[in-house]
Amino acid sequence: MKISDRIAATMTAAIQQGQGGVAPARLAAALEYAVTPGGARIRPTILMSVAMACGDDRPGLTNAAAVALELIHCASLVHDDLPCFDDADLRRGKPAVHRAFSEPLAVLTGDSLIIMGFQILAQAGAVTPARALGLIDILGKRTGMPFGICAGQGWESEDQIDLSAYHQAKTGALFIAATQMGAVAAGQDAEPWEELGARLGEAFQVADDLRDALCDVDELGKPAGQDDLHGRPNAVASLGVQGAIRRFDDILGGAISSIPACPGEAALAQMVRAYADKLVPAGARVKPTVPGE
Ligand code: IPE
Ligand code: IPE
Ligand code: MG
Ligand code: MG
Repeated sequence: MKISDRIAATMTAAIQQGQGGVAPARLAAALEYAVTPGGARIRPTILMSVAMACGDDRPGLTNAAAVALELIHCASLVHDDLPCFDDADLRRGKPAVHRAFSEPLAVLTGDSLIIMGFQILAQAGAVTPARALGLIDILGKRTGMPFGICAGQGWESEDQIDLSAYHQAKTGALFIAATQMGAVAAGQDAEPWEELGARLGEAFQVADDLRDALCDVDELGKPAGQDDLHGRPNAVASLGVQGAIRRFDDILGGAISSIPACPGEAALAQMVRAYADKLVPAGARVKPTVPGE
């Protein structure tokens, strides 16, 4: 089965479980609204690609890990768009959850998705409890304090921002979770996979800064120009567009060379390159000038 189909089927099953019983209808609808249609699903795709590169001997656990991670990511976006954070009206081309439903339901949707993420790991872990515990530990570390997205969002309430800690926690954390959880789901050690996740997260952040500066709201499906608007430090402001692209290419090169030795190393490198090509906005790269042209 294709990676995207595995993610979609597992996501549907998780949401249906949350909508079962005598669930309150509007919150049940909001759960589905927040995760479909998905965005790029880049984190679960990386997770599954790493698991496959490591043999993927427990595909059910890999599926659960990938969807647990994406549920946390979707929850973070629901909360991030709330008026008390970024006050954004649009997400993935449609009204943000608090605009389509209400602020209380957006808070509860985010909370429910986070809890669902941990619950599906617990449920999928019966056969290999040690792996499941490892997955829960990594996901918790990269979601909460002090290393996770909560910490990342928390930095925005400080007078002085530690830029590297901010980016690592806000964006890098879930990319580290993606590579490490992929390895652990397939029975491998997490530690050798941290560097790849950290580098992919850093590259993704630079590409996100480029898209925020160069794309419009229709291309992004969410408000553009937010870094400037909120006065957030970003790669385009500090390096310029071409400087940010060079930085992206450098980090990506480092990411590919940090892939640990594993049976599917070459395929994983190819997948990383293919994804990277889609991240930098089309037309942003200046073509090299050829003498005499
Ligand atoms: C957006 O992440 C949030 C950031 C960390 C910048 P994505 O760009 O992966 O969002 P979706 O899931 O594709 O919508
Ligand atoms: C959101 O970061 C990332 C989270 C950890 C929730 P941003 O606020 O920079 O991302 P967008 O632009 O809303 O997707
Ligand atoms: Mg934000
Ligand atoms: Mg935001």
